[in-house]
Amino acid sequence: MTETTVYDAERVQAWKRELAAAPYRSYLYSYPHKTAYRTFDRPKRLEDLWKNEPAETFFLYMHIPFCGARCGFCNLFTLPDKREDVHERYVDALERQARQWAKFAVKPFARFAIGGGTPTLLRADQLSRLFDIAENIMGLNPDLASISVETSPETIDRGRLNVLKERGVDRVSMGIQSFIEAEASAIYRPQKPDEVRRALGLLTEYDFPLLNLDLIYGLPGQTLDSWLYSLDEALSWEPGEIFLYPLYTREHTILKPGDIASRGEDIRMLFYLAACERLEARGYEQFSMRRFARRAPESAAVKRPLDYGCQEEGMMGLGCGARSYTQHVHYASRYGVSRRATESIIADYVAAEDYGGADYGFELSADELRRRFVLKGLLHSEGLTLSEYRGRFGTDAFDDLPELNLLTESGLAAPDGGVLRMGREGLGYSDAIGDWLISDPVRGLMREFVLP
Ligand SMILES: C[S@@+](CC[C@H](N)C(=O)[O-])C[C@H]1O[C@@H](n2cnc3c(N)ncnc32)[C@H](O)[C@@H]1O
Ligand code: SF4
Repeated sequence: MTETTVYDAERVQAWKRELAAAPYRSYLYSYPHKTAYRTFDRPKRLEDLWKNEPAETFFLYMHIPFCGARCGFCNLFTLPDKREDVHERYVDALERQARQWAKFAVKPFARFAIGGGTPTLLRADQLSRLFDIAENIMGLNPDLASISVETSPETIDRGRLNVLKERGVDRVSMGIQSFIEAEASAIYRPQKPDEVRRALGLLTEYDFPLLNLDLIYGLPGQTLDSWLYSLDEALSWEPGEIFLYPLYTREHTILKPGDIASRGEDIRMLFYLAACERLEARGYEQFSMRRFARRAPESAAVKRPLDYGCQEEGMMGLGCGARSYTQHVHYASRYGVSRRATESIIADYVAAEDYGGADYGFELSADELRRRFVLKGLLHSEGLTLSEYRGRFGTDAFDDLPELNLLTESGLAAPDGGVLRMGREGLGYSDAIGDWLISDPVRGLMREFVLP
């Protein structure tokens, strides 16, 4: 790493001003973003993709792309559809897919997650089937894997929670967004605070090892006071983890950029910083821009799941809309957000008999693998371990990506014992820094992508 400065002070300040002018560019949930995925020239055989996967453990993900209604901010792959027969046929398809994929699950699963959409929209017996598929077909050992399920307040009842408890779920994650009824209705989420409290009461009674709650800041009509009120309400339930999302609007979301709360200026950074302070005072540690958690006491662990490294996993995604990651190839079903596109992608998935190939995704070059490694480290409080980078790629991260010097020279990241790490301010700019680190080829693909 360089000791002397690489950029002149003027350039560093200008770069920092650019970040501050547009902190919310894109949520890089994973790199490369799915809008960079394309149809492969020739479908890839799953056997070839998985047989040399170096990860020591795998992550099993199941995607349930149904919700009661579509929220005004949401651009996830999901369809408002409450019909039980539709859900049943979807689980049938997921089971067919699992039967074809199971032979590639050659490493133990360290994690299993059911996400969506709203997985708990499924009936209790359908949820139970998902665990049967995971255990009996995919070979998941629920004693060795940490298991996480996403849910929403109106779908919480005893029947479903009994299933989650019996099947060894360690983490339940519930979207709340706001405890204020007017704010929820402004995002087309007809959600009564009493309904949220009923769900939280039941969840608390079942006492899952980890409860996560999602909140959003920047909602239409939200003020700093109302934001901190929702945060305090959430904290009063003592969740082990809390995710705070800045509101994003997108092409195809019902909410538009003008709906984001403002006082003549973007207030999201202000709300983020206020929440960070409050969470710190309440004993929560920051792990990324969105994730805050309390360190669980050792005795709280009810099982000892296998270790997994966040840079290391092979992820098998079952279901329509799920992504799968091998080290060199990321693949998925096609992506859509509009009702028509989502409906037709799900219909194709449910009608299919053969799930044995990957025809849509992204093949990571050596350069993209380096960027992915840097991004994953940097946007997490764990930071980028420079010796690990060197060990893996044989080169120095600062030589490969000299622009990293802007991070250190601006003070947004500091090398600490060989780990390049960002603090509260830097993490607050994660979405701008993530966007800035996207390679030119990936950016080009993302720009060309036309969302169906
Ligand atoms: C799968 S949902 C959580 C479970 C459930 N479907 C629900 O909404 O209660 C994922 C979370 O992502 C967050 N999210 C999704 N799209 C967002 C956006 N455009 N802006 C901010 N947060 C968003 C929300 O906090 C939401 O709870
Ligand atoms: S936020 Fe949750 S409930 Fe709302 S549309 Fe998205 S996935 Fe469905």
